[in-house]
Amino acid sequence: MFNDSLPTFWSIWVAVITLLVIFGCLWLIWIVRKSEPYKEETEETMGHSFDGIEEYDNPLPRWWYFKFLGTIVFGLGYLALYPGLGNFQGLLGWTSTKQYEEEVAAAEVRYGPVFAAFADQPVEVLASDPEALEVGGRLYSNNCAVCHGSGGKGAYGFPNLTDDDWLYGGSVEKIRESLNVGRVANMPAWQATLGDAGIEETSHYVVSLSGRAHDETLAAKGEQHYQTYCAACHMPNGEGMHALGAPNLTDDVWLYKQPNLTVIESVKLTLRHGRQGVMPAQLPRLGEDKVHLLTAYVYSLSQAN
Ligand code: HEC
Ligand code: HEC
Repeated sequence: MFNDSLPTFWSIWVAVITLLVIFGCLWLIWIVRKSEPYKEETEETMGHSFDGIEEYDNPLPRWWYFKFLGTIVFGLGYLALYPGLGNFQGLLGWTSTKQYEEEVAAAEVRYGPVFAAFADQPVEVLASDPEALEVGGRLYSNNCAVCHGSGGKGAYGFPNLTDDDWLYGGSVEKIRESLNVGRVANMPAWQATLGDAGIEETSHYVVSLSGRAHDETLAAKGEQHYQTYCAACHMPNGEGMHALGAPNLTDDVWLYKQPNLTVIESVKLTLRHGRQGVMPAQLPRLGEDKVHLLTAYVYSLSQAN
């Protein structure tokens, strides 16, 4: 009957003010009605004139009066049935969560079979089945496009799914794993360890790995830092490691290239502050059949190249 989303004091505060306003309206309309000098339509005026316009001293129109009373009755009825008075949940026990869950359950019954129909076909087959890709594409638009872009090309911090450059691997099983359980990257921050000079040197070495312009002397010092601190995750040759989601640093594809900064400045920011990209787990939200279709859709995106 009551939830505890508001502390008791504020719950009562809200309820009292709400009721005061409603009964205040009732009182107001009653007072106005009572003090009307004429109970029927009249030719008498209020006795003032504004730019030659006068006003009849008529009573409130009956229809208007009853409609006003009606809104008050409706308001009180609504507050008795639905949540609105502080923590009082209303006699119907309605909640938006409950309504949402009922709608989702109904949609599941109705549309579940559409997704289940594809469940026992292998991803490789679905990835070239136009019908499966159409359904998968719609799931993608609704659930993934906010982060990975409508065409799957990614954005700052959100990986491109259409190339063959993978943080965690592009095999069917790896893609499925990325979707099912999600991914949490952990690139530590290096400012404290390397200091300003160390960050500068290491950044020159990092951009040299993909053949970008760099300072030879700084990069040579940077290589030593790299082999000490970075090779364990990004591998000694810089090609990265799928098991950790450590990106390949030799291919000039950047997850964290800020639009307003050069590559080397972006790398410095990454080194200074670290990066923790999060891919939310989809299995709990969407269930196995939808993840299966989405795996096929993502797989097809990268195969198209
Ligand atoms: C514990 C493992 C680990 C270590 C050690 C590590 N990194 Fe990383 N690094 C990662 C991961 C994981 C990511 C991806 C972060 C993300 O996706 O949010 C990453 C991302 C990066 C990026 C961003 C690449 C891009 O595409 O924008 C750069 C640059 C980078 N690391 C360089 C380094 C350097 C240089 C060092 C050593 C000073 C280092 N990393 C040490 C795991 C590591
Ligand atoms: C809230 C934003 C967000 C949403 C929604 C999201 N993702 Fe991601 N996804 C990410 C981020 C961030 C990463 C990279 C994690 C990292 O930095 O290591 C990622 C990584 C991935 C990867 C691994 C890429 C690789 O290179 O290995 C795949 C595959 C993927 N997402 C597919 C999807 C699909 C399919 C959906 C929809 C069901 C989806 N994502 C929804 C943010 C999101």
